[in-house]
Amino acid sequence: MERITDTLKILNEEDKQNLDNARISVDESNDGKRKLYIESYGCQMNFADSEIVASILRDNGFATTSKYEDAELILLNTCAIRDNAEQKVRNRLQHLIPIKKKNPLVKIGVLGCMAERLKAKLLEEEKVVDMVVGPDAYRDLPRLVEEAETGQKAVNVFLSREETYADITPIRLDSNGVTAFISIMRGCDNMCSFCVVPYTRGRERSRDPHSIVKEATDLFNQGYREVTLLGQNVDSYKWSPENSENAESVNFAQLLEMVALVNPDLRIRFSTSHPKDITDEVLYTMKKYENICKYIHLPAQSGSTRILELMNRTYTREWYINKIDRIREILGEECGISQDIIAGFCTETEEDHQETLSLLEYVKYDYGYMFAYSERPNTPAAKKLKDDIAEDVKKRRLNEIIALQQRLSFERNKLAVGKVHKVLVEGFSKRSNEHLQGRNDQNKVVVFPKEHFKKGDYVNVFVTDCTAATLIGHSVTEELV
Ligand code: SAH
Ligand code: SF4
Ligand code: F3S
Repeated sequence: MERITDTLKILNEEDKQNLDNARISVDESNDGKRKLYIESYGCQMNFADSEIVASILRDNGFATTSKYEDAELILLNTCAIRDNAEQKVRNRLQHLIPIKKKNPLVKIGVLGCMAERLKAKLLEEEKVVDMVVGPDAYRDLPRLVEEAETGQKAVNVFLSREETYADITPIRLDSNGVTAFISIMRGCDNMCSFCVVPYTRGRERSRDPHSIVKEATDLFNQGYREVTLLGQNVDSYKWSPENSENAESVNFAQLLEMVALVNPDLRIRFSTSHPKDITDEVLYTMKKYENICKYIHLPAQSGSTRILELMNRTYTREWYINKIDRIREILGEECGISQDIIAGFCTETEEDHQETLSLLEYVKYDYGYMFAYSERPNTPAAKKLKDDIAEDVKKRRLNEIIALQQRLSFERNKLAVGKVHKVLVEGFSKRSNEHLQGRNDQNKVVVFPKEHFKKGDYVNVFVTDCTAATLIGHSVTEELV
């Protein structure tokens, strides 16, 4: 019973993959520097952006702190993906009013997707805010801070077609020293009808592959053993050199290979893949390199072709299923696959919902991130479709999807029992300092007794037990089977 409650918590909508959980900046040594506090919401790309922001501001005399009470500059890097993500930020801003009253010299900035969505309107709505800065304007932060310090309100929400921050070395905030994220592209050119990201992040652009390989190499030399390549749609990564005469362009499969070759002991992951763009070439590259993890996050959003069409996902249920079959064919049954699903999209019927449940049954996802549809202003869905599914129906369908995923996760994890898994140790387990925790190739969390192992080690773990969220085992000396 305890196990079930435990894992339910992990898959609970409010608790999912940091999507709505804030991350706060760390205490840097700050001799003589001014203190900066950054709180980040949303996806991994936003967390990666905060590390770029910290780097830009460090060059301008700021060091990060974990206590907002101590900071001269408070930045919230925000998410706009669902209404509750924005509400969280608004509540947070209310909490900051007394801080500002106590010390009017403190400046408060809103960065990220909510800043981009609301622009200067945010200054009117939330009086405590001094700066509104969109995701492509972070190089301008030093100037904007100066402007705010003269008592004016400062805004830059310009979206760029080129900015990739390729030359900026991020300051790793909140890092375990073993795993790190590398942004490989920005923006999104897809037009999923429910989604605000194309409006908050702008057009898709890819970062110079050589700067990516250099960042991965530097991380490896600093002791990191895993990098996750980040983008809204990594499979459409495409970089072409400017003024190219002989130089070739680089696609995602080629980039994967370039990063895999940095060192066989550096694990590579990537997120997110759009089902329409992941190619056989990518799957074969994954197969070719042991250090590219056999795990794919492949958001389906719905199992109903009719709903997928309204969502403008550009694939059908059958097409998606074919893609899954192809993954299993090339990478084997064991390849980890996870999903994103939206429950209760406009016009969704019980039959559509049943199709989503049956898709889950078919794929047998290892885990997933599940959401109730939240209408976002000015998106194609908000303009053309009615948000007509009652909240209680959305919640009920969402709960059915979560419960089914819970069972499937448990079933998939049971298949891992009785086998040896190569685990990259990330630190102590959440519950005890006698146990370590890491992940296997398929991105499953594995917990085992510490013995003499430490962070950053690869350990062969024989798995003896599992919950829907965790594998449990002990180290063995024999090789993987
Ligand atoms: N680029 C990624 C996902 C970005 S947003 C992709 O294409 O898969 C992460 C997830 O949030 C989406 O996959 C979707 O499931 C969910 N999401 C996006 N907009 C939403 C909305 N308006 N309401 C509810 N969930 C949403
Ligand atoms: Fe949004 Fe679709 Fe782009 Fe993902 S691919 S960020 S869901 S528009
Ligand atoms: Fe949120 Fe923006 Fe990421 S809307 S999910 S922070 S791209």
